[in-house]
Amino acid sequence: MERFYLEYPSLSRKADALDYIGEFHRFGSDINGSGGLNRYAGDYEGWLLKIEDDRQRIPDEQSSPGETYFLVRCSDKKIVGMVNIRYVLNERLKKYGGNIGYSIRPTERQKGYNKINLYLALKLCKLHGLKKVLLDADADNPASWRTIEALGGVMLREYFDAEFDLCVVRDYEIDVDSSLERYSSVYEPLIADQ
Ligand SMILES: CC(C)(COP(=O)(O)OP(=O)(O)OC[C@H]1O[C@@H](n2cnc3c(N)ncnc32)[C@H](O)[C@@H]1OP(=O)(O)O)[C@@H](O)C(=O)NCCC(=O)NCCS
Repeated sequence: MERFYLEYPSLSRKADALDYIGEFHRFGSDINGSGGLNRYAGDYEGWLLKIEDDRQRIPDEQSSPGETYFLVRCSDKKIVGMVNIRYVLNERLKKYGGNIGYSIRPTERQKGYNKINLYLALKLCKLHGLKKVLLDADADNPASWRTIEALGGVMLREYFDAEFDLCVVRDYEIDVDSSLERYSSVYEPLIADQ
């Protein structure tokens, strides 16, 4: 059985991280949860500094403290996904983006990996004392909202987002403790001790 863990990005992962983002470009895929890695293609070291800064941010309307991780498959240490967790929401993030953003590389999709990614992110949210998290997903992105629903997400509203996305968006809430309790038997066996 494959197992997974979240890894904090480091210099030793430079080639793997660029390969990860390169795959999204090759497949023409949306990128989410990368902590902006796609904007630092030629400056991985700069991105490492940026995500370290992200952790220390004082929350305000422009920014919010957050963390970015690689989702790594134990058997081959491959980066199969990324997740970005915002522990404090400003008004903008409440409206758009929510607490958690994620992606799975195109060649590793539809294997259930993003559900593991979200479960691991919820564990970190619990460690940071969050009781409820907000997530949003475009209505035409079932892979995203089905991930959220698979972890017990409850849809709060569905609306046309005329400000940011210009599409129908679904807002969800997950009760962190209940989700972790309810799905631990499914996901704990898939999580590696690091
Ligand atoms: C969204 C994304 C992370 C899903 O990753 P994934 O590893 O393929 O998802 P999983 O395999 O864990 O599947 C999660 C759920 O979505 C469903 N699903 C996956 N791909 C799907 C697709 N193409 N169409 C419909 N449902 C799909 C799965 O069946 C599963 O639902 P279930 O538990 O009810 O069966 C991935 O498609 C991605 O990286 N997309 C680009 C970035 C993005 O859109 N991020 C989210 C922005 S809000």
